[in-house]
Amino acid sequence: MKKVNVAILGVMGSVGTEILKVLEERKFPVDNLKLLASKKYAGREIIWNSLKYVVEEVTKDSFDDVDILLSAVPSEASKIYTPIAVEKGVVVIDNSSAYRYDENVPLVIPEINPEDVETHEGIIANPNCSTIIALLPLSEINKLSLIKRIIASTYQAASGAGNKGMEELERQTKDYANEKELEVKAFHHQILHNVIPQVDNFTENGYTKEEMKMVNESRKILHNKNINISCTSVRVPVLRSHSVSMIVETEDDVSVEKAKELLSKSKGIKIVDDIERNIYPMPKDSSNQDLVFVGRIRKDLSGNGLNLWCCGDQIRKGAATNAVQIAELLVSSSNESSDRSC
Ligand SMILES: NC(=O)c1ccc[n+]([C@@H]2O[C@H](COP(=O)([O-])OP(=O)(O)OC[C@H]3O[C@@H](n4cnc5c(N)ncnc54)[C@H](OP(=O)(O)O)[C@@H]3O)[C@@H](O)[C@H]2O)c1
Repeated sequence: MKKVNVAILGVMGSVGTEILKVLEERKFPVDNLKLLASKKYAGREIIWNSLKYVVEEVTKDSFDDVDILLSAVPSEASKIYTPIAVEKGVVVIDNSSAYRYDENVPLVIPEINPEDVETHEGIIANPNCSTIIALLPLSEINKLSLIKRIIASTYQAASGAGNKGMEELERQTKDYANEKELEVKAFHHQILHNVIPQVDNFTENGYTKEEMKMVNESRKILHNKNINISCTSVRVPVLRSHSVSMIVETEDDVSVEKAKELLSKSKGIKIVDDIERNIYPMPKDSSNQDLVFVGRIRKDLSGNGLNLWCCGDQIRKGAATNAVQIAELLVSSSNESSDRSC
């Protein structure tokens, strides 16, 4: 397979660190690797695939000779560096929400809409983490009968706010044990021993930006503007792995058995559903791996449809792994057609 020159922007962050691991695990065909970060990390040494790399401060000249940029910085930073990289012919796979709604930017989950990668004009957006986790099982149910309506509630891990979110939960846990006052920095309220019904800022309609991502991104990925979606996003004191509870209304009746049969054969999904033995998906089990665990699959008592519960590691399948899978699609399509760059 053709090797490509890869750069990771934000390599010291929670998603950037994981991208490095995933590239190595999946034996991604890397020729040259560039590790880019903010000034404070410049000069740090990182061992990747048994070789030593030095982290560089990102500048406008960082993207020469790069084929694919895996960007793992906040939207504001992506808006600075993505256009510079694209101008230099780099294909950017962006983990931020900066370009997700742009018409010429495909929003891709490789198990669901891999063909959309082909439509890129230099930027491919990685979808919102809870949306990726929810849509893996939902897109399968949608094959059995068209989904009309989804009511979702997310239970989002502290690491969804990046390293500072994880550090805050760990610090508050330690300080609580030492009877110290708890410092609140990363979230609007104390996260330890609490749940916070706010992820990101509120929009004019009373929903948060995070909740509206589930609505708008699901429609774009499923190519269905008519699907009705309502979401409540909640931050919970879990270190890693988001959980989503979903009520799914379908056009025709879908039996639990049919749904389980299809989901058990679906890519990226593991059925964890044995209530006789109190077995169901939990974030502690779905962390540090790539599958979305799906369980508690049952008939909705209030209408035509199903209720389900799923958990997935949002730093891996919700970000790093999904981004590397998109890069794999680029490489395999450029192998098929040698005159098209990735
Ligand atoms: N965490 C998740 O579960 C998750 C899931 C899906 C998508 N995402 C998205 O992925 C991106 C990265 O998130 P994260 O969780 O990895 O955050 P993070 O742990 O806070 O890491 C972000 C990294 O970006 C760097 N950075 C920020 N501004 C920069 C700039 N102007 N130039 C260079 N580097 C800069 C930061 O460096 P400093 O420390 O110097 O600021 C930090 O190392 C975000 O867009 C986020 O929304 C995150």
